[in-house]
Amino acid sequence: MKSRRDFIKTTALAGAAFSILPSKSVFAGNLENKVRLGFIGVGLRGQSHLELALKRDDVEVVAICDIQQRMIDMSLGLVAQEGKAKPSVILEGPQGYKKLLDRKDIDAVIIATPWEWHKVMCIDAMNAKKYVGCEVITGMTVDECWELVRTSEKTGMPLMMLENVCYRRDVMAVLNMVRQNVFGELIHLQGGYQHDLREVKFNDGKSGGRGAEFGEKGFSEAQWRTQHSVDRNGDLYPTHGIGPVAMMTNINRGNRFTQLVSYSTKARGLHEYVTKVGGENHPNAKINFKLGDVVTTMIRTANDETILLQHDTNLPRPYSLGFRVQGTKGIWMDVNKSIYIDGQSAKPHQWEEAKAWLDKYDHPLWKKYGNDAAGAGHGGMDWFVLNAFIESIKRKTTPPQDVYDAVTWSVITPLSEKSIAQNGASIDFPDFTNGQWKARKNNFALDDSY
Ligand SMILES: NC(=O)c1ccc[n+]([C@@H]2O[C@H](COP(=O)([O-])OP(=O)(O)OC[C@H]3O[C@@H](n4cnc5c(N)ncnc54)[C@H](O)[C@@H]3O)[C@@H](O)[C@H]2O)c1
Repeated sequence: MKSRRDFIKTTALAGAAFSILPSKSVFAGNLENKVRLGFIGVGLRGQSHLELALKRDDVEVVAICDIQQRMIDMSLGLVAQEGKAKPSVILEGPQGYKKLLDRKDIDAVIIATPWEWHKVMCIDAMNAKKYVGCEVITGMTVDECWELVRTSEKTGMPLMMLENVCYRRDVMAVLNMVRQNVFGELIHLQGGYQHDLREVKFNDGKSGGRGAEFGEKGFSEAQWRTQHSVDRNGDLYPTHGIGPVAMMTNINRGNRFTQLVSYSTKARGLHEYVTKVGGENHPNAKINFKLGDVVTTMIRTANDETILLQHDTNLPRPYSLGFRVQGTKGIWMDVNKSIYIDGQSAKPHQWEEAKAWLDKYDHPLWKKYGNDAAGAGHGGMDWFVLNAFIESIKRKTTPPQDVYDAVTWSVITPLSEKSIAQNGASIDFPDFTNGQWKARKNNFALDDSY
């Protein structure tokens, strides 16, 4: 009889089955035609997707929607720069996006609005029979995550969270190595979001991004993201770290997250920053920011791996997502760009540079599309995530990162908030797949098509 671990391993890795949309899907896109896209939220991130979409021959940008003239103007500037037809513009306040969803000449939408809008916009879009690509994170509470799953299942419309780090070149090479057993059986993984966002959180759009204002006086993410640091304490941005690690450990596909615990440190960084930039008498120097400067979360999986996640956005530090992949045969870490493979690395107990390994195991997708992706945001990975979304629509398949991934990765935020509020209590993960995780197959980046 197979042990549980053998069962998990064989079911997770078997075959390259691509799931076809549920038969009740009414998506009417046509492969011969262009994918007709609508954009909801064309702030800085939406513009970055827009720019990539405008460069594609298989996409027509039909409409863009925002609530700020400045962002619409910047977007139309990109359209003009690419020499493409001017899309319809919807600038009609917070509910204006519904007008975009009413249009029958739009197959799919890209949602790049503040987090608090994602759930309702995704649900309205799926109910309007649009294929949905939503920026990270989708679902701010456990209930919101369930609503997203149920709506996707009910409507048959896919929801892809546009988690781009799964497509980072080194991450994909390491995924390739994991699948070829270079690290042996996986034991422990790490990742996170370790990015000094102080200038983002206090960007007033004027002082070269180095203000002390947020909310109504802020620009871009300072208008909305900073308030989450005032009100909430948890891992507020888990998906860049967890997405790649979840794909390596076949989460929702033979494996699942079972529990997490989170701890946070004291909150000092944002107050110090405001005081330094705006002075001790600045009104924002009186704010008690709730978000601990470093939030550390430990996750357990059904297959007995542990995953350590960190959220670290309030302190001076160079950017690093802090990946570590460790198995019975070796270890890779991104922060020192190093690797060690037992019996193969030149010297025992000594790191070697990872570059030669990453080149050797370069993922077929990067070999095929590396030139197309050159120049795209975040080292090219943004090209891949948009490409996967568009190609899924053209093929009428569920995207390689599906609704279950979107909510399983996003739900870490409310679960970590709960754990911290309960002094580090262990919190169970919901099983959004309703038991199907045991039999589902991993189809993420299995071939070189998308
Ligand atoms: N994957 C990545 O690498 C990455 C990078 C940056 C941002 N993001 C994500 O992208 C999303 C957007 O972030 P951003 O940096 O573009 O922020 P932003 O503030 O620059 O853009 C948000 C836009 O949404 C618009 N908006 C707000 N409410 C709206 C409504 N009701 N209807 C229509 N438009 C509305 C705003 O006017 C703004 O233009 C967030 O989820 C963020 O976390 C992801």
